[in-house]
Amino acid sequence: MIQVLFVCLGNICRSPMAEAVFKHMVDQAGLSDQIKVDSAGTGSWHVGEPAHMGTRRVLRDYGIDYTGRARQIIQDDLQTDTYIIVMDESNLREIQRRFRPHARLHRLLDFAEELPERDVPDPYYTGNFEYVYQLVVEGCAGLLAHIRRQENI
Ligand code: 4NP
Repeated sequence: MIQVLFVCLGNICRSPMAEAVFKHMVDQAGLSDQIKVDSAGTGSWHVGEPAHMGTRRVLRDYGIDYTGRARQIIQDDLQTDTYIIVMDESNLREIQRRFRPHARLHRLLDFAEELPERDVPDPYYTGNFEYVYQLVVEGCAGLLAHIRRQENI
């Protein structure tokens, strides 16, 4: 089973959105028996909470289900073959600081090369969940293509 873990700061806005969007794409590609998708936060403030209302609303608007609850990333999540996909540079630095080096650690928007952005802006502060959704869709499409090439599926 291929594992993909999306990571942001609080695990209530960006990474749950990416988890839900990517799962939806994986389902549509008929790959859900081969790719397992999850998300986590580097911080612990929101552990156990459902996704932010803004994330739930935008997902609902696009017809995507999400019922996950926030959790914090742990050492066990960093299996060598797991794709760890972070939302921004500070998530990347935090994981590199806290855990051992990990070969499959990427920013989501590294898979959306045509976009000017490299970091998914945090809608917890910007309030712009719709814009984040557009970025997440681009990044997830590029990530799925990357994994399909990488894993020959
Ligand atoms: P996220 O957004 O990292 O996209 O889930 C945030 C959620 C909560 C906080 C910060 C960012 N917070 O400071 O509580």
